[in-house]
Amino acid sequence: MDWGIRNRLSRIFQPQDGRTLMLAVDHGYFLGPTTRLEDPRKTITPLLPYADAIMLTRGILQTCVDPTATVPVVLRVSGGATIVGRDLANETITTSVRDAVRLNASAVALSIFVGSDYEHQTLANLARLIDEATPYGIPVLAVTAVGKELEKRDARYLALACRVAAELGAHFVKTYYCEDFEKVVGGCPVPIVIAGGPKLESDMDVLRLAYDALQGGAAGLDMGRNIWQHDHPVAMIRAIRAIVHEGATPRQAYELLQDLTQASASVGRV
Ligand code: 5RP
Repeated sequence: MDWGIRNRLSRIFQPQDGRTLMLAVDHGYFLGPTTRLEDPRKTITPLLPYADAIMLTRGILQTCVDPTATVPVVLRVSGGATIVGRDLANETITTSVRDAVRLNASAVALSIFVGSDYEHQTLANLARLIDEATPYGIPVLAVTAVGKELEKRDARYLALACRVAAELGAHFVKTYYCEDFEKVVGGCPVPIVIAGGPKLESDMDVLRLAYDALQGGAAGLDMGRNIWQHDHPVAMIRAIRAIVHEGATPRQAYELLQDLTQASASVGRV
């Protein structure tokens, strides 16, 4: 693999264990000012020290992240549809590779909607982005998006979508955790990171999801709402980080979460 691609990937996937904890804050590109991400700077800033990379659009990067921040940027470069529009899958490439270079992105990210009316269009977007980004040594993250059809998230569908992304040349793939997740990983020759999805019912559910995904072969997480919609987002990201990089079990991470939450009670919300 090209030196530039490997170098940028090693900023995202920590060389000591090959894993990553990415913080996803790109939701506004189709959801608008979603709950607890209304003021992105306020949400993002306290979490940055605990994230291996941050996934967001150029607009939020430029307005809400200090340019002196050293966190690697995974730049969302697809969009063009919203939650109130006709079809969330109708995406195009919204940010050029030239602009990704200007913003010093460590990777670019684009959604594909396999099985949707826009399957061909979004797969063609991915192929074009890979053709354009690879000569600059910029890795491409393919996101296997399902739009509003959350029930699509089973191993048969996700294995197909991840494999198609890898076949087109994606350098890593973001998908969902599911039953028989090993089948998804087994059919995908590039690293997989896992989205958290909508906020889960309990903290233990989130920690188990993180743990099970990694045990099942994921190379990391790219999580959003289950971190920053938590009442104690810093405590939550630190607990998840313990699972990703320190070998913590869900129970150990839960205890850490409790300790951090209690410790913060006297000094304000973390
Ligand atoms: C949307 C995305 C989001 O970044 C992704 O869903 C991760 O966030 P969450 O953990 O909140 O699901 O790629 O297409």
